[in-house]
Amino acid sequence: MSQEDIAPVEVGSGLAKLLTRRPMAGKNDKGDSMEKIVSLCKRRGFVFQSSEIYGGLNGCWDYGPLGVELKRNLKDYWWRRNVLEREDVVGMDGSILMNRNVWRASGHESTFSDPLIDCKTCKGRFRADQLEDSRCLLKPSKRPGECDGELTEPRQFNMMFRTFVGASEDDSSVTYLRPETAQSMFVQFKNVLETSRQKLPFGLAQIGKAFRNEINPRHFTFRSREFEQMEIEYFCRPEQGKELLEYWLKERLKFYEEIGLSFEKLHVLDVPEADRAHYSEGTYDIEYDFPFGRQELEGVAYRTNYDLRKHQEHSGKPLEYFDDETKEKFVPHVVEPSAGVDRTVLALLCEAYDEETITNEKGKEEMRTVMRFHPRIAPVKCGVFPLLKNKPELVAKARDLVDLLRPHMHVFYDEGGAIGRRYRRQDEAGTPFGVTIDFETLGEQGDDLRDTVTLRERDSMKQTRVPIQELTDRLIQEIR
Ligand code: GAP
Repeated sequence: MSQEDIAPVEVGSGLAKLLTRRPMAGKNDKGDSMEKIVSLCKRRGFVFQSSEIYGGLNGCWDYGPLGVELKRNLKDYWWRRNVLEREDVVGMDGSILMNRNVWRASGHESTFSDPLIDCKTCKGRFRADQLEDSRCLLKPSKRPGECDGELTEPRQFNMMFRTFVGASEDDSSVTYLRPETAQSMFVQFKNVLETSRQKLPFGLAQIGKAFRNEINPRHFTFRSREFEQMEIEYFCRPEQGKELLEYWLKERLKFYEEIGLSFEKLHVLDVPEADRAHYSEGTYDIEYDFPFGRQELEGVAYRTNYDLRKHQEHSGKPLEYFDDETKEKFVPHVVEPSAGVDRTVLALLCEAYDEETITNEKGKEEMRTVMRFHPRIAPVKCGVFPLLKNKPELVAKARDLVDLLRPHMHVFYDEGGAIGRRYRRQDEAGTPFGVTIDFETLGEQGDDLRDTVTLRERDSMKQTRVPIQELTDRLIQEIR
């Protein structure tokens, strides 16, 4: 079934617009922007190929100095909005390796697989459900099957990374790197309930690594073999499940807008029953228009009480909830908003990337590349620049300003090169504000401007004069 065949559903007035299947602005609305984004990520230190000097490792990525700040800001904001600002959600941090029985009970050991097809000629391995988008390794202009290669029948390939715990490498020591963070929240449900003294409905939140041996990692960090998830398991009474699914969908859409993703590029897919996981009684995929097409950012699923029930059966330990008011005992149901950190970072990078022609400081036209991150999640909040590096008074004053701002925000000090070039470097880093210390700051042009600085806004490139005294408060207001 194509996405266009799926009927829009109505979930309140604001959402109706999102649930209508709007066409993408064009498969690649910024031309060859994906290549440019990947190149900028390397050039500026957002994302590098893992183990690059050894030829890399497919599906694995390293975040550089700017990327790690962007990712951290995203995770911090998610934590703040979903845990710190709520009374009904608590957090946890589970281990990546767990008892193998967890994966037996959850069904991952027997069913967490993708259909795999091998080509006997080019030796390529392809996902059977993605042949349309795959390329023959010997004849890249053709799809597998379109070339003369002989394809095998599809077979199921389990995506969990197997490993051994302890010194012996036999069946008794097998376990897996977790393919989702969710399961540790299910198996710790009882401990959390008892220690946090929460009452239904309440949520358990976690941010952490997950691993999947994807057959075809692709689209830069979009489909990786090692990635991070931000997940909430929101436990509730059975009759609350459907309503809470709609509630969490709205909450999550609000979040994406708050971090700067544009409304027009966000879409909601009401996943048809045939495409849902077997335990789901309703799933919405939140999708984003990436330059390579419309793709899933997050799944919001009503998982019923499948997981707790399975763990109760397999472990023999009760995972029930006793309702003081109704005196009922039951296995709670769960609504799960499950987002990918790396995919959201990629969406932020794609959303932010922009190019424009400007007239530079010397009156000449030039192309400016600018990352228009929302100040809330921008890796660096403010650049500080002494106009000249060989004037010690300017440098000292700029250093003082860095000391003033640093306790409140991530600041970058730069004294190298022409001021225009320094601005341009911070535009590519997505730094929303730049502050220049000049001769006016020192009082050399009269007392009126002493202790004032030039504040430059990244997006408009507008420059205003601001007293140093007012600067910290003004910037704090902007970045919150
Ligand atoms: N606990 C439910 C669960 O894991 P999922 O739809 O398989 O559901 C949730 O994954 C989210 O994790 C996805 O929406 C996506 O953002 C992210 N994700 C899944 N596989 C990924 C991969 N191979 N690379 C990057 N992110 C991935």
